[in-house]
Amino acid sequence: MGKLTGRLVDWYLRNPAVIVLAQETRLLIALADRPEPVVLEDLDVAAMSAVLALTTVSPVAHAELIARCDEAAVGLLVELGVLLRGTQAELATRLPAQAPVPNGPKPCKHITVALTGAVGVINAIHHVLAIADVLAETVDVVVSAGAREFIQPRLFEFYAFRVWTDPFEPAHGAAVPHVHLATTTDLVLVAPASASMLHKLATGACSDLVSLIVAATKAPVVIAPSMNPEMWTHAPIQRNVAQLRADGAWVIEPGLGYEVGQRNMIGVGPANFDVGSLMRALLAIVRHPR
Ligand SMILES: Cc1cc2nc3c(=O)[nH]c(=O)nc-3n(C[C@H](O)[C@H](O)[C@H](O)COP(=O)(O)O)c2cc1C
Repeated sequence: MGKLTGRLVDWYLRNPAVIVLAQETRLLIALADRPEPVVLEDLDVAAMSAVLALTTVSPVAHAELIARCDEAAVGLLVELGVLLRGTQAELATRLPAQAPVPNGPKPCKHITVALTGAVGVINAIHHVLAIADVLAETVDVVVSAGAREFIQPRLFEFYAFRVWTDPFEPAHGAAVPHVHLATTTDLVLVAPASASMLHKLATGACSDLVSLIVAATKAPVVIAPSMNPEMWTHAPIQRNVAQLRADGAWVIEPGLGYEVGQRNMIGVGPANFDVGSLMRALLAIVRHPR
């Protein structure tokens, strides 16, 4: 019998309590027990992202992970608590803790939240309300054409948010909606971000209100992709994500809102959206010195 090293019994699982955002060659890691995010520079973020996607759904064996990515990267993610390491049985029974919603003074004046056509948008009211409760004094809601297939803008109007859908229609006293929102907001959040919207953003399409705002703003742009793992790993979609990171957008990496054993979604899923995680991701961006 071959030698059984400790390595062979190592399995890895994405720790859902740790938020990871990627931009260019850096990762911003929001740990549950530290107010300030950890910043790692000069990384192959696409490789790191692949590790996170692979380990989000269920525990992955050491050999399988190492066959697909750099061993040092795995070690670093374990060291930071982004990956949990243990036996398969230990990890399979591990229930992810939902992150608490932070409280305290609101750090932003104005956040623009763009909702797009991923099915996870059915839960968007919860994150929009949480952003208004804890993060920003003013929250504007942009609802894309795809999002309107799943939800009605009037839900957000009922909660007194200003809702925007049409780039050509003056609204709320603004003659040109995308210019108004792009120049007044402190942060643009695209959550959930559909694969179709990732493409529009990555190519600077400017063909709808969301891609116009993102093209016209100097504020940080945070993107929370939401789709099934097959779409997430599709090469053109990964190219768009890599382009967005390279162009300076913050991409919330796979794991957010995902609960092991539930819906097979990467990112903001329909049934299991974790508002606290999204708030921590946004706080990490707001606190990250630019
Ligand atoms: C039932 C259903 C669920 C969908 N869920 C997703 C999804 O979770 N993520 C995604 O990227 N696209 C999803 N799509 C496809 C998008 O809705 C479609 O590409 C749409 O045009 C995107 O619109 P947008 O560009 O306004 O975001 C879904 C489509 C249907 C019919």
